[in-house]
Amino acid sequence: MASPFRDGILEGKVAFVAGGTSGINLGIATRFAELGARVAVLGRNPEKAASAAAGIGRGAIGLTADVRDYGAIRAAMEEVRSRLGPMDIVVSGAAGNFLAPVLGMSANAFRTVVDIDLNGTFNVFRGCHDLLNLPGASLIAITAGQAVNALQLQAHACAAKAGINQLVRVLALEWGPDVRVNGISPGPIAGTEGMARLAPDPQTRQKHFDRIAMKRWGEIGEVAECAVFLCSDAARYVTGTIIDCDGGSQVGDATQRSIEKGLS
Ligand code: HXC
Ligand code: NAP
Repeated sequence: MASPFRDGILEGKVAFVAGGTSGINLGIATRFAELGARVAVLGRNPEKAASAAAGIGRGAIGLTADVRDYGAIRAAMEEVRSRLGPMDIVVSGAAGNFLAPVLGMSANAFRTVVDIDLNGTFNVFRGCHDLLNLPGASLIAITAGQAVNALQLQAHACAAKAGINQLVRVLALEWGPDVRVNGISPGPIAGTEGMARLAPDPQTRQKHFDRIAMKRWGEIGEVAECAVFLCSDAARYVTGTIIDCDGGSQVGDATQRSIEKGLS
């Protein structure tokens, strides 16, 4: 699919992608690099980080830290600044997920997902502020439809992603006009770890599919194009918002959809 963004649109920009060593976030980091940005990606696994950076090429660097550890993530971002320069773009996309009912979830299980997704996003954004290239920096949190629509077996992710959406709005207020802060809420994206975990069998996959107005799975590259838009000049007046890149998955009501399906 042809991209509406011209080559070199991110030339001279420095981008840091937390959780950028696989899946959707790696797709975002790769697209940033293709469009000219100098990129750093971060995850917990050093081999994965090295291989992601090598795959991106163009001098990308792979770093290792756990977003739950403020000191570690801060040190990683200081390294980005000293090696690549002040950051223009910061993406917070690290997440953990598994299907479990509340009664099948220990306090530690709930806390683990909240800690990675929500506290991790706080740590990345709180820790990056004085390392940013100001004014004009763009921060993007990767959230999910669970932030808005409750989903069984997802109490931890629903709570964490809802918190992320509000954190985005508060930071947009506190850090404007120098920094824009937005979120992207991907829908079910083909070939990802998230989909493998959340839709492990054909029946569950079908339920997710039935919610999609566009009647096809999303592609990693489509989320990446949204990220490019948000950190481009075209979005210079866009802050404090969450873009749903989900083929309409969260529009309307699941019951209504199944009624309509029954009628068609
Ligand atoms: C119940 C579970 C569980 C499960 C783990 N736990 N899996 N409880 N059901 N299936 C519990 C453990 O027993 C433990 O509690 C606690 O959670 C922490 O587990 P650890 O393995 O010690 O945690 P950790 O090593 O930090 O790993 C975090 C993780 C892991 C989230 C559990 O799966 C991970 O690292 N995931 C990262 C990759 C990932 O999830 N990608 C998908 C993101 S996609 P106790 O009490 O025993 O100590 C996404 C989907 C969006 O977010 C929406 C798509 C439509
Ligand atoms: P993924 O491939 O599992 O990517 C997760 C990334 O985060 C990896 O780079 C992982 O590397 C890193 N990570 C996980 N825990 C971390 C931690 N504690 N500290 C630092 N890094 C950590 O997931 P994905 O499916 O592409 O999802 C990416 C994002 O999109 C997530 O925010 C997810 O909630 C969101 N999303 C996905 C979908 C979907 O369809 N997949 C839908 C809606 C929203 P390590 O394992 O090496 O740490």
